[in-house]
Amino acid sequence: MTERPVSTGLSRRRALVSLAATGGGLMGAAFAQAAPGPVAAPRAPEGERKAEPNASHPSPADQPGATAHPVIRTQSDAFYRPTVHYSPESGFMNDPNGLVHDGSVYHLYYQYDPFAPYAGHVHWGHATSKDLLSWQDQPIAINETPAGEAFTGCAVLDAQNSSGLFKEGQSGLVALYTRATPKKQSQYLAISEDGGQSFHDIAQNPVLDIGSNSFRDPQVIFHEPTRQWVMVVAKSRLHQIAFYASIDLRHWVHLSDFGPSGLYGVDYECPNLIEIPVEGGGSRWVLFISVNPGGPTGGSITQYFVGSFDGSRFTPDDTVIGLTDFAKDAYALQCYQNMPGKQAVSIAWLGNWQYCQELPTQSWRGCMTLPRLMTLRHDSAGWLRLAQAPRGLETLREAPIAFTCQRLAAGASASVPLPPGVALELVLSATVDQMPPNLPLGDKGRTGRFVIVFGNDMGENLTIGFDAFSGQLWIDRADLNGFKQPFFTGQFSTPLNADDRHFDIRLVLDACTLEVFANGGLSVGTALLFPANPLSFLKLEATGAGASIETLGLYRLRKVMPRETAL
Ligand code: FRU
Repeated sequence: MTERPVSTGLSRRRALVSLAATGGGLMGAAFAQAAPGPVAAPRAPEGERKAEPNASHPSPADQPGATAHPVIRTQSDAFYRPTVHYSPESGFMNDPNGLVHDGSVYHLYYQYDPFAPYAGHVHWGHATSKDLLSWQDQPIAINETPAGEAFTGCAVLDAQNSSGLFKEGQSGLVALYTRATPKKQSQYLAISEDGGQSFHDIAQNPVLDIGSNSFRDPQVIFHEPTRQWVMVVAKSRLHQIAFYASIDLRHWVHLSDFGPSGLYGVDYECPNLIEIPVEGGGSRWVLFISVNPGGPTGGSITQYFVGSFDGSRFTPDDTVIGLTDFAKDAYALQCYQNMPGKQAVSIAWLGNWQYCQELPTQSWRGCMTLPRLMTLRHDSAGWLRLAQAPRGLETLREAPIAFTCQRLAAGASASVPLPPGVALELVLSATVDQMPPNLPLGDKGRTGRFVIVFGNDMGENLTIGFDAFSGQLWIDRADLNGFKQPFFTGQFSTPLNADDRHFDIRLVLDACTLEVFANGGLSVGTALLFPANPLSFLKLEATGAGASIETLGLYRLRKVMPRETAL
């Protein structure tokens, strides 16, 4: 292993930010890179770059022979910056880590390269919140060290000092995470004695090492019935999730392995095990596994299995794989530990390894999904499936935007101008009329679509549409012009209920992010969006058949991220 120097705090981050210049001009082609012009991104010194990638997503800034990329702050950095989704001030962010409620605040740690808008030199960034929506930045909590980068992991509240690592009678946060070098990935334990602000590795590390360079992303829960800590951790290339038990968080005994099971993919990553309530009573265990690349929509995807867990083995109820998303920008889902009221709440990285390092922002890249409350629900076909809903979002609603429309005749539309630079929530349910009888053969597929259009006068359109004939929903981001890349595909779709001309949807549009919750949250689509110009109107259209609108609410959402944004 080539040893790297311990990173010295944020001096290079400051250097990065001071290199930033404010761009001028409009969006899109006019994103002029203003003086002082492109500046080389900080790179790991020669001889310290990785000899080989250690994951399915090598860092371009860190590869031998890679070209240094310019890092400047442009107007697009503010234009695309979400106002209600967490994103880092600068640098590159991927997976959420260490999601825990410590009894008073929520912690969000995250995979973070503070030096450049590319993956590499991974530290744990940190933010805290009282409500999971409004976040305060905190100093980096875990550094890259000569032992490796600080890859994904979890944090638990060791309330009883079962680790024996805290002073007599005291409790504290314990992080379990992967230290990664090109040759080795092993599990480390670090404790925090300052309420989660910083962690220090214990001398006994690694606490779990199987001599593999593809063994990562531990998540630990306390399993009440067996009174032990249980870890799930990915043997990534073997497509297996290993289960371990411990009573002190420091000594781990192998229990069982789950898999290979599910999508082929390349790497299995970020496993998460959680008990989730079933609507109407009872609960089941759910095992989430992120797969990259190899998702059916391309690149990164999170799959899940519903089953039982007896303290040592996870047994799926059937051979069905669920996907948390029908689009492609929700990855590395992690569940909150120690949630008040035992709610099942998750946050995922709102990104995809296929293009996350090429997005049209320059000084920052990466954001998180909204926190999502999870339940299990029997769908109309009887399958027990994950339902997701943005948690607490109503508290950010400002006065509704006046927009009334109860009925659209076939071919009619209704529109409303949108306020610029604010996040919007749309809540809508509608029923598309029965198709007219005696249609010529071949026309049945066009017998009723309800289309939600967010557009502008430059011809850019984002559409979310419901096809009543087939009971399917689509998202189409292809007519937005701010970012083109072969993997940045345009259309995604999901079935809703068969033979049902009614649909319901709740969506949040926030700068470069779209989250769609349809069918009461059984179908969720998360998509990055890069319009070249602001989307200035919302239009509802009925094509082929008329539609009755039962619910229509359009809200501005209060900005909670203290960042430079479009407004
Ligand atoms: C998932 C992942 C993890 C790894 C981390 C590195 O996106 O590849 O498996 O720990 O990112 O940043």
